[in-house]
Formats: sequence, C-alpha cells, structure tokens
Amino acid sequence: MALARAFYKFLKKRKSHMKRFQLLTEIGKKLVPEYRYSWPYMDWYHDEPFNDYLKRFDELDHFNTDRRHTVYQLMRLTEAVPGDTAECGSLEGAGSYLIHLMNEQCRQHTRWHHIFDSFEGLSAPAAGDGSHWKKGDLSVSMNEVRDNMGAFDRYSLYKGWIPERFPDVADKQFSFVHIDVDLFQPTFDTINFFYPRLNPGGIIVCDDYGSSLCPGATRAIDEYLADKPEKMLFMTCGSGFMIKGKETAAQLC
Ligand SMILES: C[S@@+](CC[C@H](N)C(=O)[O-])C[C@H]1O[C@@H](n2cnc3c(N)ncnc32)[C@H](O)[C@@H]1O
Repeated sequence: MALARAFYKFLKKRKSHMKRFQLLTEIGKKLVPEYRYSWPYMDWYHDEPFNDYLKRFDELDHFNTDRRHTVYQLMRLTEAVPGDTAECGSLEGAGSYLIHLMNEQCRQHTRWHHIFDSFEGLSAPAAGDGSHWKKGDLSVSMNEVRDNMGAFDRYSLYKGWIPERFPDVADKQFSFVHIDVDLFQPTFDTINFFYPRLNPGGIIVCDDYGSSLCPGATRAIDEYLADKPEKMLFMTCGSGFMIKGKETAAQLC
C-alpha cells in the first residue's frame, strides 16, 4: 500500500504527457528490452471515422490498429485501379469490413469483395511454420463473419481450404488482395493465384509478412516473388505489401 502511494505521488509529479511517456519507455525498457516505442503524437489516433470502424470490432486499443490503418491508406492508392478485392483468411471479418468500406467510397464502386476462409481455423502447420500455431486455431464461423459485415451487400463468402474455392473467381481481375493465413502453403497458393490476376497498380498485402510467429508466410511470399520484379516491402507495424508493376530494389543486406 505504501509502495502504491509512493508510486502514485511519483506519477502525479510527472504531469506532462511527455514526462509520462518517458516514464513508460523507461519501465518498458526494463521489462521488454527489445521493444521499440514510437512517438505517440499521431494525427491518425484522432481520425474519428477510422476510430468508429475500430470500435465496431472492439479494436480501438488493440495491437493491430496501425496495421488496420495501413490497409486503409494502401487502399486509397488503388482508387483508380480496376478490379475486385479479396481477403484470404478473414477471422471475424474486421479486415474485410474495412476493405468493403473503402470499396463503397471508391470511384470504382462496381468492385466486388471476395472472402475466402475454411471457417474452421488454420490448416495443419508444416515444419517450416514454426511452433506458434496449431491446426484449428483462429476458427470463426461463416455466420459470424456474415453478421459482422452488417448491411454490406457487395461481397461473397467462399468456405473451403485454400486453394479449393479459387476456381470460383478464376475469371476475375483484382485491385487489392489481403493475404492473412499465417502458414506457408496457403500463403504460397494465394499469391500464386492472385498475382497473375492483379491489375497494374494493384496491391497485395500480406499481414503475416515479417512476423517471427509466421516464418512460413514470409518464406512463401519471398519464394514466389523471387523471379518477379516486385518484392514485398516490410512495414514497421508488421506485415508487408507490393504494388504490381513497381520494380523493387533489393534489401541492403
Ligand atoms: C489471422 S486470421 C485472419 C485475420 C483477418 N484477416 C483480420 O484482418 O482480422 C487467419 C484466418 O485464416 C484462416 N485460414 C488459415 N489457414 C487456412 C487455409 N489453409 N484455408 C482457408 N482458411 C485458412 C483461418 O480460418 C483464420 O480465419
């Protein structure tokens, strides 16, 4: 109790936001030394329409907010690109909701959004997928996703193990594809199917790219793009993206 009172007194002295932030980083460096803080003075924290979207999925304080915001901004880049959108691996539909929301506002408002998922969670990880995941993790039912898509009506749900249902959209062209299936094989099958169908200027985001929890997903993307002019760019929030037709320089090392 005395310790708590002393700590509270200590905090009260640090009235300014900056001083509290410094304190947070000092404590954090002791607890998780490798963690890198970034400045909290971001205009996008106060983007109310975006925050309303996050609140809809109870994600306002979630670790994914910057990744969601990146998808939102990258979709703006595809404004003039013709073609449908797709998400492979939807979980409860938060990513697909955002993509559909952007499609509604887009000049290309004839876009249709395609959602692929087993709706039974992850397939079986292979040796190169690390030890974090197991078959059946992250399972959400198709009905829950449909409920979460609310009043939106320009989308289709495809239940099945990737790539079983891809032939359903074999004749489509795409402007934006969100790959989020965590493991090597479905990530490879997804980029293998969508890359040739992505229009110039179209974007593929791989949510798991560069995550140490998903080594197979990173390897799948790198292997597929090895002989292509485009490479995946790492985003500091985790995940990566490539733009069709934009040749990409090699990494420094
Ligand atoms: C990380 S979650 C997706 C998160 C979601 N994109 C978001 O933005 O919130 C992974 C999803 O991939 C699906 N999934 C994993 N492996 C799959 C496979 N081989 N075939 C179909 N779906 C798969 C899971 O059912 C799960 O819904």
